[in-house]
Amino acid sequence: MATRKRLLNLDTMNQAVLDVEDPLGSVIAREVEMQQEINQGIKKPFDKVACCHLGDLQLMGYPPCTFLRQVAALCTYPELLDSDRFPQDAKQRARDIIKQLANGSVGSYNMTHINYEVNQKVAKFIERRDGGIPSNPRDILVSDGATQAILAVLAMAVNNEGTLRTGIMVSVPYHPLYADTIRLNEAVKVEYLLDEEHGWAVNVDNIRESLYAARKHCDPRVLCVINPGNPTGHVLSRDSMEEIIRLAAQEKLLLFADEVYQDNVFAPGAIFHSFKKVLFEMGPEYSERVQLVSVNSISKGISGECGLRSGYVEFVNVDPEVFGYLYILKSYELPNGVGVVAMESLLEPLQPGDPSYETFQAERRTLLNNLAKNARLAEEILNRAPGIHCNPIQGAMYAYPRIHIPDTAITLAQDQGVAPDALFCHLLLEDTGIILLDGTSFGQAAGTYHVRLSLIHPPQELKSTLQKIVEFHARFVQEYS
Ligand SMILES: Cc1ncc(COP(=O)(O)O)c(C=O)c1O
Repeated sequence: MATRKRLLNLDTMNQAVLDVEDPLGSVIAREVEMQQEINQGIKKPFDKVACCHLGDLQLMGYPPCTFLRQVAALCTYPELLDSDRFPQDAKQRARDIIKQLANGSVGSYNMTHINYEVNQKVAKFIERRDGGIPSNPRDILVSDGATQAILAVLAMAVNNEGTLRTGIMVSVPYHPLYADTIRLNEAVKVEYLLDEEHGWAVNVDNIRESLYAARKHCDPRVLCVINPGNPTGHVLSRDSMEEIIRLAAQEKLLLFADEVYQDNVFAPGAIFHSFKKVLFEMGPEYSERVQLVSVNSISKGISGECGLRSGYVEFVNVDPEVFGYLYILKSYELPNGVGVVAMESLLEPLQPGDPSYETFQAERRTLLNNLAKNARLAEEILNRAPGIHCNPIQGAMYAYPRIHIPDTAITLAQDQGVAPDALFCHLLLEDTGIILLDGTSFGQAAGTYHVRLSLIHPPQELKSTLQKIVEFHARFVQEYS
């Protein structure tokens, strides 16, 4: 019997959505399937699936930040304020937050709190971070994580009414969210290559070259920079940031700075500078001219609260009228209350002598030390293997090594209609249970292949995972050479 064609089908739905290429969808489906197969007793060459594809600290066994969770728990269930299981500083912070919540409840919409009071705390946090450079609460928007902020701000920047479509410049490699946001808004993705030979640094000549070429067919307006880099792990030097700012000023580009990994910097000598601070230190010629948007999130950093969802965006030199429209847009996507109080708990630093200070510092040290140790392990083990090269990793949570793929495997992948590095990841998963993401999902120079591997496992576990990857790669190269 012929099925009736549904009103919403692949031909009638928004065609821009068809272009979205979520790299995780098929990987997660296979992960679930594999785990079920293992549970059913189906024999595999491994006994568990190793998730090395996500920057999700708590998935990998990191305990949540104690102070944050205590404050969030107290705000969510204020009767706990009578319990003596919570330290006084967590109780005091929770009481201060509860006083500002509508009717004292985290379950209210809390529009006033989120849009007026939390902004002030975020502004103070930014001022402290940037050594006193002023931050205006009216230029801050609290969001439901960085993803929502990126989607909303980039959607605002696209205007395809002229003869040329809007271009949005992204680094290669980029975070796949940017490519999908560009597709969803029917903008043009203008790629600039990061300099792999120099540790994935930004090379402004590459940006200029792609910008000038792109201007022949689109109207590039936004320059996106991720610092510290995902997937590269590169942390921008101050000189490099100044060059980027000068270029944004000269070429009239809105600078979109994704700074969600600002607290995940661990290599000796690497320092995170915010674009806002560098911009203001370059003087009024730049600070009064360059439009800057920067995002931050509680999913990363020290908190690693991917599930609670909260973050913020700060705007510099963006018209208040434009900002007003963004507020309207965002009012349809209110941040969730528990996520917001979780973020608030960390906006004011604990002081030496506070009951929770030592625990907080110890948790922070453990995370950063493990990331540093894991980065070194990845560099050592991967760089010892023929056909694999891993650049120094200074920050964020990932390694993005280049891997050699033999011609026969490339031909096989082409025959199967998949990217060669996706084929490698697929075979690796079936053989070892290790999940990596392919470089094709992040972008890479033509003819090069990469994989992204997260560095948030306990170091001993990561060492054995890295050894398995290297051994599998050697077998793969031998088999297809
Ligand atoms: C560079 C970058 N930006 C944004 C996000 C999204 O963060 P959130 O969980 O806050 O939506 C991620 C998540 O991995 C990321 O790596």
